[in-house]
Amino acid sequence: MADFELAPSLLAADFGYLMRDINAVEGSVKYLHFDVMDGHYVDNISFGLPVIQSIRKYTDLKFYTHLMITNPEKYIKAFADAGSDIITFHVECADDPTALIDEIHSYGCEAGVAIHPDTPIDVILPFADKCELLLVMTVRPGFGGQDFMPESLSRIKTVRKAIDEAGSSAWLSVDGGINKDTIKTVYDAGASMFVTGSAVFGAEDPAKACCELSSCITA
Ligand code: DX5
Ligand code: ZN
Repeated sequence: MADFELAPSLLAADFGYLMRDINAVEGSVKYLHFDVMDGHYVDNISFGLPVIQSIRKYTDLKFYTHLMITNPEKYIKAFADAGSDIITFHVECADDPTALIDEIHSYGCEAGVAIHPDTPIDVILPFADKCELLLVMTVRPGFGGQDFMPESLSRIKTVRKAIDEAGSSAWLSVDGGINKDTIKTVYDAGASMFVTGSAVFGAEDPAKACCELSSCITA
């Protein structure tokens, strides 16, 4: 049984043909990653609620929403109502991360806590057994197509140790620069949920790209 999952990031899809691109990966993955950017926390604006809400009608994939927004507490209910299965916020943007996790759970969603590469990794460790996913950013959030930051590897190992020591079954997710060259090393460091944008939707055949990425781990 696979002990990892891929979560293709729609940020790298063709926004004029979103359902075409989603249909292309539907048979290959269980999760779809939505990068919500507000132009405040990150220097980019992507898409938001209406896009997620609309896509929800057309696919049964699990929606892994990645909020790169300030004041996430204002929008948790809206992203739950829009159809998110996992709602992930940045620890840097939350005054009370535990309260946000509780709120996410109260809507029947799974909770994720993300950490920026510049934030000391210890900040995320207390949440290892309080949420369903810890997201270690492996690039600076805001843009797809960046190179994986190799210094993330020791951060991933630290989080893996904390999850295991807490007896938690939380996903250890990574996001940014995951491709055929990096995925195995990152898996070996302890990651289990791989967000991949350009490596999947930038490929000629997204389904084949998912298959090849998985094979890098299982081969
Ligand atoms: C970056 C986003 C990522 C992005 C990853 O801020 O959080 O999810 O789509 O893109 P790639 O896989 O191209 O680095
Ligand atoms: Zn993301």
